[in-house]
Amino acid sequence: MLALDLILRWMHILGAIMLVGSTIFMRTAYVPAKELSDFEPKPEFAEWLRKAWSRMVLLSSAQLLISGLVAFGLLMSRYNISEKPIPASTYHMIFGIKFLLAFVVFFLAAALSGRSGLAKKLRQREKFWLTLNMVLAITVVCLAGVMRLADRSEKSTSSLPQPAASVANVEDAASTTDQR
Ligand code: HEM
Repeated sequence: MLALDLILRWMHILGAIMLVGSTIFMRTAYVPAKELSDFEPKPEFAEWLRKAWSRMVLLSSAQLLISGLVAFGLLMSRYNISEKPIPASTYHMIFGIKFLLAFVVFFLAAALSGRSGLAKKLRQREKFWLTLNMVLAITVVCLAGVMRLADRSEKSTSSLPQPAASVANVEDAASTTDQR
């Protein structure tokens, strides 16, 4: 189980680095460099960059989604969220917001790096959409930070459902009483 936890964590953190990092790079380095130097990249250059970024977006989104869903399932099956410092209801609300925002981030990153008609339209206002996606992606990371603050306690075996008494067990108990 420890190995699975570690693999899921690595997948999630590396996915976040790739998706958030590449979005920040595009917005804070590539776009300003293009604007400052009045540089209109050759079509082959722009196409190569788009393809490379698109591959990274697909891989990181898949990694984040799979590792996030499995990690959440495991967390919920093994632990109870303590009331302090973050109550369970708040934890779940933050998870819901993070989940929805993550989908907007996946969608915008895929659209900005894609080659559909929508991608071409979005790229006409590339700076605006990249800024929006960068802010959303950073918000998702901050929400994850809040989730990690939640205290969790292992679910005790007494809170797990007990197997129903079998006829054999009941008969055994009865015969023990009779012998006394
Ligand atoms: C833009 C997409 C996303 C980013 C940037 C992101 C980022 C992060 C980061 C940085 C962490 C902390 C990792 C650690 O310290 O181990 C985290 C935790 C987590 N993420 Fe994500 N995530 C994203 C999408 C998702 C999705 C789609 C899901 C669920 C389907 C998800 C579920 C989780 C869970 C369950 C945790 C653990 C929270 C806890 O420890 O209480 N994430 N995420």
